[in-house]
Amino acid sequence: MSDLASGIGPISFGCWRFAGNTLAAAEALISAALEVGFSLIDTADIYGFNGTSGFGEAEELLGRVLAAQPGLRDQMVLATKGGIRPGVPYDWSPEYLRQACEDSLRRLGVDAVDLYQLHRPDVLTPPEAVAEALVDLIDRGLVGALGVSNVTPSQFSLLQHALAECRPGLSLVSTQPEFSVWHSDPVRDGTFDQCLELGTLALAWSPLGGGRIGADDDPVVAALTRVGERHGVDAPTVALAFVLAHPARPVPILGTQRVERIRAAAVALDVRLERSDWYELYQSGTGKRLP
Ligand SMILES: NC(=O)c1ccc[n+]([C@@H]2O[C@H](COP(=O)([O-])OP(=O)(O)OC[C@H]3O[C@@H](n4cnc5c(N)ncnc54)[C@H](OP(=O)(O)O)[C@@H]3O)[C@@H](O)[C@H]2O)c1
Repeated sequence: MSDLASGIGPISFGCWRFAGNTLAAAEALISAALEVGFSLIDTADIYGFNGTSGFGEAEELLGRVLAAQPGLRDQMVLATKGGIRPGVPYDWSPEYLRQACEDSLRRLGVDAVDLYQLHRPDVLTPPEAVAEALVDLIDRGLVGALGVSNVTPSQFSLLQHALAECRPGLSLVSTQPEFSVWHSDPVRDGTFDQCLELGTLALAWSPLGGGRIGADDDPVVAALTRVGERHGVDAPTVALAFVLAHPARPVPILGTQRVERIRAAAVALDVRLERSDWYELYQSGTGKRLP
């Protein structure tokens, strides 16, 4: 396990829906997450973009929070992402990544981020070129550690290999797939096996199905409620417990913009799902009977 992985809480807070909050609301959300020990704060340069404008707005707002309360910076593991470029839409070219990272730091108002993640694969840039750009970010002290998101295990391996060639000993410390009861691909596509093999930190995005937890007529929510009744907890708590139960120890990234829901999430850490509970949920999410 990397130093970064050992220093973060079991749940984290994500900023995809963060732009648009008032500064006071934004401060309350970040403070609440840190207070309950959800130390990794995950953002991206693209968060806030609505299809035409808003690129960088989530980072800017987080930067304003940090300017208002500089003490928060030391309490958090600050993670951002780059590599999605509106209109392109993916760009991991060395020139673009260098610029994107510098722009992120400027918006956040920090000298460095703790984790810089490549957001979605740009299959047109050779891994060697990507690795060179990432090593440059490390050498200049702009980023503490490197990660990826939405990659296949083989894309992960290729970049990992290129990094090690470029700088012996340097490796990717994290990967960020979508993972929830609704979307359990990482347990089948090799992502979590690779995390277990390499000790890579798994960050699980949209752990509550990106809001599907709020749907009344969703069969997965019905299954979550049923299991929750057996444990005396609500459906969102069970959805988080499902993510936390995998041996790769995925860290769910909460997307809620409500302080009380950030606090409530900690209850999931005390829920121990039975094996049969977990597979019942897994089956409901795939929509198929398990053989
Ligand atoms: N790497 C990637 O490509 C990628 C893609 C998407 C997301 N992410 C990361 O993952 C984070 C989370 O994504 P997400 O926002 O889709 O996650 P999520 O936690 O699955 O969904 C959050 C949504 O669920 C709603 N919700 C309804 N009932 C809820 C309840 N009881 N408790 C909590 N939330 C409830 C929230 O509304 P309220 O705000 O009203 O609570 C919010 O709109 C993002 O912020 C981002 O950091 C990464």
